[in-house]
Amino acid sequence: MPHTDTTRTTDPELPARIVMVGCGHMGFAIVRGLLGSAPDCAIVAVETSPQRREMLTEFGGIAVTDELEIAPGDFVVIAVPPQVFGDFAAAQRHKFAPETPVLSVMAGLNAGTIAEALGTTQVVRSIPNTPSEVFQGMSVYYAGPAVAENTVAQSDLLLKAIGKALRVDSEELIDDATAFCGGGPAFVSYIVDAFCQFAADRGFTAEAGREMAVQVFGGTATLIAHSDKPPMQLCREVMTPNGTTERGIAAFDAAELKNSVMTALAASAQRSRELASAMSSGAGAGAADE
Ligand SMILES: NC(=O)c1ccc[n+]([C@@H]2O[C@H](COP(=O)([O-])OP(=O)(O)OC[C@H]3O[C@@H](n4cnc5c(N)ncnc54)[C@H](OP(=O)(O)O)[C@@H]3O)[C@@H](O)[C@H]2O)c1
Repeated sequence: MPHTDTTRTTDPELPARIVMVGCGHMGFAIVRGLLGSAPDCAIVAVETSPQRREMLTEFGGIAVTDELEIAPGDFVVIAVPPQVFGDFAAAQRHKFAPETPVLSVMAGLNAGTIAEALGTTQVVRSIPNTPSEVFQGMSVYYAGPAVAENTVAQSDLLLKAIGKALRVDSEELIDDATAFCGGGPAFVSYIVDAFCQFAADRGFTAEAGREMAVQVFGGTATLIAHSDKPPMQLCREVMTPNGTTERGIAAFDAAELKNSVMTALAASAQRSRELASAMSSGAGAGAADE
């Protein structure tokens, strides 16, 4: 079983300035999280999209530019789509020093591939998720042996400013975390949508369905967090023999829902591995999401 660690090893400060390269869905989620939890941290968003730059400027609280500049002491977060990273690195590599700390949130790009392309040894590979925007992120990250303890500690602090962060010492696990954590909000929203659809079909208003779903999913997550019991025990405690929930779970079992969920997660993790392998061989891999 690979070692994982959620404890901070040192007590560093957040970097004085964070350069966020790519400020789309994920980059902006992190920026919003940081603005709320670390207001003293200066943030520069480097964005190629003019519309996005306009939106970011209107949003306020950060500097916005289309031109990457890295000053000594800056901490660079890269949140561009993986398929544009090769071109980005080729054009911007000369701005990186061998000791420039880089936190990648890009799915399907190995730390070694990024380090080689940018010419820095200080690459931490992470996979965050969109609830970072509301400080409820779950990020998993990997740092190889060449990465300085301070870079690891600052990455950890940055990711913990937007939720929880878990360090793993096997990069293989990042592909599985990409499915679980990166894609998790999409998978959960997909299931929430089924609950909402059921509510609408039965005559609840969309607002009522949404409110019930938020409270049931959020409430259950809080219950699990506050309980020592495994999730299946909490499930069984709702299932009175021959009762309504038991009938519903029987339908889940008949449809092999648990297997379907695990198959979907495995397929998603496999796609992350395919992307990493295609990217590291320089082939590119078409679109990649989280
Ligand atoms: N979305 C998620 O839930 C999630 C979760 C975990 C990890 N990630 C990772 O986060 C990264 C971003 O995903 P996303 O969903 O945020 O994508 P996105 O919404 O498309 O945002 C990417 C942004 O980067 C900009 N960009 C492209 N090339 C650039 C360059 N050379 N310099 C500066 N900015 C550039 C894009 O502008 P244009 O539109 O003009 O190209 C776009 O605004 C991806 O690597 C993804 O794997 C995403």
